[in-house]
Amino acid sequence: MPPFHSRHGILHVENVPMTEIAATVGTPAYVYSTSSLRDAARAFKDGLSLVPRKHLAFAVKANPNIAVLQILAEEGYGADIVSAGEMTRALSAGMSPEGIVFSGVGKTNRELSAALDAGIGQFNLELEEEGVVLAALAARRDMRAAAVLRINPDVDAGTHAKISTGRRENKFGVNLEEAQAIYARLARLDGLDLRGIAIHIGSQLAELGPLRAAYEKVGRFIAALRAAGHPITHVDLGGGLGLTYRAGDVCPTAAAYGAMVAQVTRDWDVTLMFEPGRFIVGNAGVLLTEVIWVKPGAKHPYVIVDAAMNDLARPALYDAFHDFAAVHPRGSRMVANIAGPVCESGDTFAMGRDIEAVERGDLAIFRTAGAYGATMASTYNCRALVPEVLVDGDRFAIVADRITPEAMLMSQHLPFWRGRPWSHVDQSGDATRDRTHA
Ligand code: LLP
Repeated sequence: MPPFHSRHGILHVENVPMTEIAATVGTPAYVYSTSSLRDAARAFKDGLSLVPRKHLAFAVKANPNIAVLQILAEEGYGADIVSAGEMTRALSAGMSPEGIVFSGVGKTNRELSAALDAGIGQFNLELEEEGVVLAALAARRDMRAAAVLRINPDVDAGTHAKISTGRRENKFGVNLEEAQAIYARLARLDGLDLRGIAIHIGSQLAELGPLRAAYEKVGRFIAALRAAGHPITHVDLGGGLGLTYRAGDVCPTAAAYGAMVAQVTRDWDVTLMFEPGRFIVGNAGVLLTEVIWVKPGAKHPYVIVDAAMNDLARPALYDAFHDFAAVHPRGSRMVANIAGPVCESGDTFAMGRDIEAVERGDLAIFRTAGAYGATMASTYNCRALVPEVLVDGDRFAIVADRITPEAMLMSQHLPFWRGRPWSHVDQSGDATRDRTHA
């Protein structure tokens, strides 16, 4: 039985009806399935069964919920992080520091220092100067920081421009032509244990061709580095494997990806590292929402739901498609636009889409929202930060609270020079809290 399925006409997550989650937690809410998470984590690992030495580092940016990270740690995953905040999440979820890879194009000295102090396993360097700074910080601590150099292979990943990272004009990695000289200079630094290279060409990749082309360039570069006397023991192949968001889309399976990797890397004799994000969590989550209105529109009616672009930014940012399904279908269909309550025309999830007919008060879901969903949520329009729920069999738990506008108000202050202490006022108009910073 797939984790998200219909039973007695009502959409369930594992053994829990969506209606029960909505009644308990309210909407909108992200809902994750434990079994779906575990299945994807295992599928990715199984796909790489022909790779003899490997380390899997889940890209925390895709879903940094600690309950999700804890399950992935149990499945043998480390973490790929890009900030001190993500490091704290991964460590809090019980991931070991050695299993954590620190990526990211703008790590601050403070973040590098914190990561050294925490014993983070590998630093993926984005530019020469970063290696110099890291070496100095490590030497001051009598350490040698394990590091790899990220190269920019100048490959078109064939994905949305905003999530393409492997072209020369992108901000990531060092140019292949300069990489060997940079590598040689960094390899001489005392505080660094430079041990290989990293690559990541983009996200939501629907074809293996660009990945293969990039990996083949990596293979040739490894050979050149070894010929120059550098011991290469680790190569980080990044993430990027896409998912099918829409019926009819085609994406490579983990098995096909693994077969390609095994073939291209067969003579490399290194530990291969992987940073999958979307593939692991995308299908494990949905965004549960309620229909507020069905409003007449010029061509099609607008289904106005209580989720918005601040809860799920992908359609507004990348024109991304998320399948929409009624929790308790009425048996008929309609063609409609689907939009949220935010005051921008960009707050639109779909235009002219053929969907199950819904009415005011109906519950519905957006599918494939487990990756880059909650993690990209904001509080725009003073909307609550959307909560997250984890289902496991017939149990469910809130694993991230709804952060209400009232709670957020507590972090705002009027300046002390405005004289009279300002009061937070509750909805009845009573002053609930006086405070001043004078
Ligand atoms: N490694 C690095 C260095 C990355 O920059 C990324 C994603 C990953 C791994 C994981 O990639 P994945 O396996 O998830 O494709 N917000 C966008 C996606 C941004 C991806 C950024 N980097 C979206 O919603 O489509």
